[in-house]
Amino acid sequence: MKDVKSYIEQHKNRFLDELVELLKIPSVSADPAYKNDVIKTAEAIKSSLEKAGCDSVEICDTPGYPIVYGEKIIDPKLPTILVYGHYDVQPADPLELWTSPPFEPVIKKTEIHPEGAIFARGACDDKGQMYMHVKALEFMTSTGQLPCNVKFMIEGEEEVGSESLSWYVKRNQEKLSNDVILISDTGMIANDIPSITTGLRGLSYVEVEVTGPNRDLHSGLYGGAVANPINILTKMITSLHDENNHITIPGFYDNVEELSLEERAEMAKAPFSLDNYKKALDIDEVYGEKGYTTNERNSIRPTLDVNGIWGGYTGEGAKTVIASQAFAKISMRLVPNQDWKEITELFKNHFESIAPKSVTVKVKPHHGGQGYVTPIDTIAYQAASKAYESTFEKTPIPQRSGGSIPIVSLFEKELKSKTILMGFGLNSDAIHSPNEHFGVFNYLKGIETIPYFYKYFTEMNK
Ligand code: BES
Ligand code: MN
Ligand code: MN
Repeated sequence: MKDVKSYIEQHKNRFLDELVELLKIPSVSADPAYKNDVIKTAEAIKSSLEKAGCDSVEICDTPGYPIVYGEKIIDPKLPTILVYGHYDVQPADPLELWTSPPFEPVIKKTEIHPEGAIFARGACDDKGQMYMHVKALEFMTSTGQLPCNVKFMIEGEEEVGSESLSWYVKRNQEKLSNDVILISDTGMIANDIPSITTGLRGLSYVEVEVTGPNRDLHSGLYGGAVANPINILTKMITSLHDENNHITIPGFYDNVEELSLEERAEMAKAPFSLDNYKKALDIDEVYGEKGYTTNERNSIRPTLDVNGIWGGYTGEGAKTVIASQAFAKISMRLVPNQDWKEITELFKNHFESIAPKSVTVKVKPHHGGQGYVTPIDTIAYQAASKAYESTFEKTPIPQRSGGSIPIVSLFEKELKSKTILMGFGLNSDAIHSPNEHFGVFNYLKGIETIPYFYKYFTEMNK
């Protein structure tokens, strides 16, 4: 790649300014109040793809939020890279915990990012990482160095389950045909320890509802004599793990892929400091499934977590009441070979079966998806690895992540192609949390590394 470093040096202020503008639009897909902003973001991305050199860009309507599709086909005989990303973001709450407003991006220095990081909702997940690809394309087209065909597909519903994207992909297989899918929506170990994400966990997300008496009751007049749905719900939730933190749902582990000791030993070679991990989270001890390390617990093992729980009186002061209902949102992170629909069914049956007769229980499945593993003995992985070597001067470490991008397994099923996850975020970048940020170093390094992937992938395919 000729002059990629100097091109970035010359244009970096504009690259940052453009991202800042994109981050100002609050494209929160979960909350209908932001509908116009989500659509406005799609339009902004369309125009950025046009400026970066795509030949045709369209905003594709779906039953939900639109998909921005753009392409530049230089020669049908050359390989085609399909870039996927998302322009929607998580809700910013709780707002009071942000040190600067979530949609007024500012660059601040941090211990981990001495060169500064952009603070804003979506900075890392995924506007910043998605926009690296737009700027990498700009570099390649404007310097005449685009070596292959490229298609962009940027969606607006990733944070709420990608339903419209599934709809779109199933209807556009021909149009989306490609040789590899390239995504930057994950992380790496550290700025001086590059890594490539080789696995994603699957997900099953459910909401449960426990109903007791037909109205809220006086907790003195009725307390002790009827089931309290909140007491019952917490008891039921507690019973979902045993004393070893194993999940107790019958059949839950049946299809879990067990890694060999060799594979686990290989994983354990990745640099990791438990002390720093605990310090970063202000905890005295970690917690999890017996027999597995922290890194195993959050990548190759399935989990079950309550994400939210409510019911009864939570206002000021005290109100003596037995609530009629209690609720919880529960997520299960799944590993390869666990089928998310099957797991959802197992959960539903089990949860209903452990409910005492004094309450009724409803389980409402939300959304989910399959896990994914990227093989490393492929041209695509080798090309990615070489790309990092060119810009970080280090061989990247393959590492499975605990997060989920459920659409990736659908891509494999519908488009028959593998995905390469070149993520440049850090775990400390606070995605989904207050004060999300993305390092300026990471943003620019991503823009620098991506064109090398194009180059090596094209060369290795010859
Ligand atoms: N980009 C994340 C997933 C991610 C982050 C994977 C870091 C690996 C490392 C994505 O936007 C996300 O948040 N996914 C959701 C699932 C989705 C169905 C809401 C998740 O993992 O909770
Ligand atoms: Mn994301
Ligand atoms: Mn996310």
